Parts: sequence; structure tokens; C-alpha cells
Amino acid sequence: MAPDDRRVEPPDGTGRVRPVVLVVDDDAGLRESFRLILEDDYEVADAPDGPRALEVVRATQVDLVLLDIRLPDMDGIEVLERIKAIDEGVEVILVTAVKTVRTAVAAMKLGAFDYLTKPFEEDELLALARRALERRSLEREVVFLRSELARGRGAEEIVGRQPAMQRLGRLIAQVARAASTVLISGESGTGKELIARAIHHQGPRRDKPFVAVNPAAIAETLMESELFGHEKGAFTGAWQKKLGRFEMAQGGTLFLDEIATLKPELQAKLLRVLQEREIERVGGTRAIKVDVRIVAATNVDLRRLVAGGAFREDLFYRLNVVPVAVPPLRERIEDVPLLVDHFLRRFSGEFGKRIDGLSPEALAALTAYHWPGNVRELMNIVERSVVLGEGSTIGLNDLPVDLALPRGRSAAAEASPLNEATEQFQRQMVLRALERARGNVSEAARLLGVHRNSLKGKLRRWKVRTTKRAG
Ligand SMILES: Nc1ncnc2c1ncn2[C@@H]1O[C@H](COP(=O)(O)OP(=O)(O)OP(=O)(O)O)[C@@H](O)[C@H]1O
Ligand SMILES: [Mg+2]
Repeated sequence: MAPDDRRVEPPDGTGRVRPVVLVVDDDAGLRESFRLILEDDYEVADAPDGPRALEVVRATQVDLVLLDIRLPDMDGIEVLERIKAIDEGVEVILVTAVKTVRTAVAAMKLGAFDYLTKPFEEDELLALARRALERRSLEREVVFLRSELARGRGAEEIVGRQPAMQRLGRLIAQVARAASTVLISGESGTGKELIARAIHHQGPRRDKPFVAVNPAAIAETLMESELFGHEKGAFTGAWQKKLGRFEMAQGGTLFLDEIATLKPELQAKLLRVLQEREIERVGGTRAIKVDVRIVAATNVDLRRLVAGGAFREDLFYRLNVVPVAVPPLRERIEDVPLLVDHFLRRFSGEFGKRIDGLSPEALAALTAYHWPGNVRELMNIVERSVVLGEGSTIGLNDLPVDLALPRGRSAAAEASPLNEATEQFQRQMVLRALERARGNVSEAARLLGVHRNSLKGKLRRWKVRTTKRAG
């Protein structure tokens, strides 16, 4: 972890940016007593009059304003109106000496949260401030929950027992506790997003948002506003203020997917945000403090892009604080049966089918395949077989044809593509015959018209194990 990261977030990852409360009152003594009550829980700013209050709201991110209704040169209602015009997300509590229903109604119409009558109890003020700030964080959470519902994903199990996956599991548990930035690298479909979510869900930020953003899926021109949000009227078409992903993730985790596709200009901006822990909305003038844990992912070798000048070196080091490498599925073939089981259970439940498992030959085909699309490809194949399969077992015929044709980069394949293709074709024929013969090698040999021993030789070479089963 870089030293300046530590300043912003304590190592337990629970450090939060404190809400900012602005006290507006012309009485210096009163401002001071407000400060004394609030400063244990909040950052407190103050202003003696309307114009100076508006200056503060324009220049800094204010969460709550305690606004005296009777001010020397601009009355409270007008100040309230102007604050809301600058940022409608700011909560305002009006403070008044005399409770007049008329002012109260007007204030509520203009969007004040509530109001407080002088003199007030300390507890009364604190309770009111807490409620107002809760409503404010709700705005962010609603946006986040909406996006999360659309994705329909919570914490999911990471299946895998192979040694590298076990190490990965331990690493995730360790990393989850810290607040350090993580860079996950791995081929497409290996489970990078799953891992990013696990890091979030196992850590102290689990109750806060996990927000994902993928620059490759967003138009280049909109990317900056997607990340940092924009103010109303920031550009043509910006009818309304919009929260960026950084603000939506406040207190939680921001997942920057396919980070290599981020354009150079935004790489520079992202670097600045990671250094300063502050963002600026497009068309905005204020720096907004953000407390988000960053998890980035890449399916290309970022170091190579850095060497070639396509990715900023300084940004790479900022992101690569804890590197997490996810192995491709072909390097953990032992996990294929487990994963198949996991997805079979999921999809038979989802589609209301009763499927007990795969034929040994179908499983042999799956473990011999080289899985260019990794776990996602496996998952799709299982889903498809569950949907289309008619029996209680999934057999070779339920699998896509090319699965029985492992295209391994073997030396033999390089030496003679024709021999390799012939071999693959034979393998597919043999597996199908074995399946029909329910694992009986002599019967399969008869179906294929070859001698039993020659078939056994081939099975040994291909490392296909057979089990005879009742027919
Ligand atoms: N070890 C695993 N156990 C269970 N499910 C997994 C595992 N790995 C991946 N998956 C599932 O496979 C699918 C693909 O995973 P994910 O989206 O995390 O991959 P990715 O590396 O982000 O891929 P891409 O680079 O294509 O975005 C997801 O539905 C995920 O839940
Ligand atoms: Mg992904």
C-alpha cells in the first residue's frame, strides 16, 4: 500500500469520508456552539451570511446545511432555493427562533429536510442531522441497487480445489480485509469479476455498494461522465445532474473492468483521482471526496501495454498494488468435474429438469478440451446441455460437436496437422462408440470394427479411463 493511501483509509478498510455540515448563522456564538456539538461526527464549515454560504456550497462538497432562516442580507428561504439550484442533493435543515407554519410549508416545498426551533437540545440536533444525512446516502444507494438488481448478482461461490485456486482463495480472504488496490489479471471468462465481488463481499465494505464499470462497453465520449458524473447542463443533452460510478460506490468498491481499454486522457484523470481521492463532476467546479476501494481487471498483459506505451506506467503501479492472477481453465482441468457439477445443479434447478450427471465419455471430452473461453464457456455448454438434453444423463450427443475434438497445441499437431485431425476424429468416434456400449470396451471395439487391444492402446494414449456400467 502506498503511504498516501494509508492517510486516506486506515488499514482495516473501514475509514469513511466524514459528511460535511455547513452552519449558516450570523451569530458567531451560535456557530461556535453548533460546531462543538457536531464536530465529533462531522466536518463542520460555517458562514455568517447567505452569499458566503453559497460560496462554500459552490466550492466544496457539502452534505448538509443548517440554515438560519433570518439572515442579515438574504433571507433563509432564498438561500435555500439557491443552494438547491447549485446541488439538489444537499440536505437543508432550517433553524428558526419562532416556529411559523407558513415558513415551514414554504421551506418544505422548496426541498428543506426539516426544521429546528431555537433553543434546541443537543440530542435533537444530532438526531435530525443523522436522519437528513441518511436520506442523502439513500440517493446513491437507490442508483446502485437499481444497477445491481438489473444484473441480478450477489455473492457467488468460487468453485475450485486445484492448488492454484486454493491459494487464490486464501489470497482473496487476506486482500478483502485490507483497503489496498487490487489488479486482477486473467483470460476472458476465468472469473475475474466473480473474484472482484468476492473481495468486496468478504471485506468490511460488504454492506456498501459494489459498482462495476467497463470502459469497453461505454461510448468513449460518455466515459468521463460515467465515471465522475456531470452537473446539469455540463454538455448538450445533460438535462439533469448525474452521479458517476465513483460517487455511487461511495464507501464501497469500484470495479474497473477491462482497464486496458481506458483511453489515455482518462488514464490521466483516473491517476489523479487515485492520488487525490477526489473527483470532479463534468461541468462541475467542486472537488468531491471519494472513499472507494478500487479493484481493476484486465484480460491482456498490462505490462506489455506499458512497455509499448499504450498504458501509463504510473497508473499501472497505482493499480498493481496487490496483483491477483487467475489461471486459465486448461491449467486447472482437475476442477472441470466440480465446475460441471456446480453448473448442472444451478441450471437443472433453474430450468426445472432432473439431471443426475454426465456420461463418463462426455466428461472425458470436457476434460480433454482446451477451453479457450474458460469457465464461462464451460458454464454455457452446461446450460445448453441442460436445456436441450432429453434424458436424465448428459451424453456426448448433447455436447457441441467440436468439444470432442481437443485442439491442444501438441508437438504432434504442429508436426502434422493432418495426422492430428485424424487422431481427433478417431477420438471422437471412439468416445461415441464407448458411450453407446455403456463403457464396455469389447462392445465398443465391435461397433468400431477394430480389435479390442488396438482400442485399448488408443484409450491409454488419450488417457481416457473407462468404466463399464449396467445397461
Ligand atoms: N471458479 C468459479 N466457480 C464458479 N463460477 C465461476 C468460476 N469462475 C467463473 N465462474 C462463472 O463464470 C462466468 C464468467 O466469470 P466472470 O464474468 O467473472 O469472468 P471474467 O474473467 O470477468 O470474464 P471476461 O474477461 O470475459 O469479462 C460467471 O458467470 C462466473 O460466475
Ligand atoms: Mg469480466
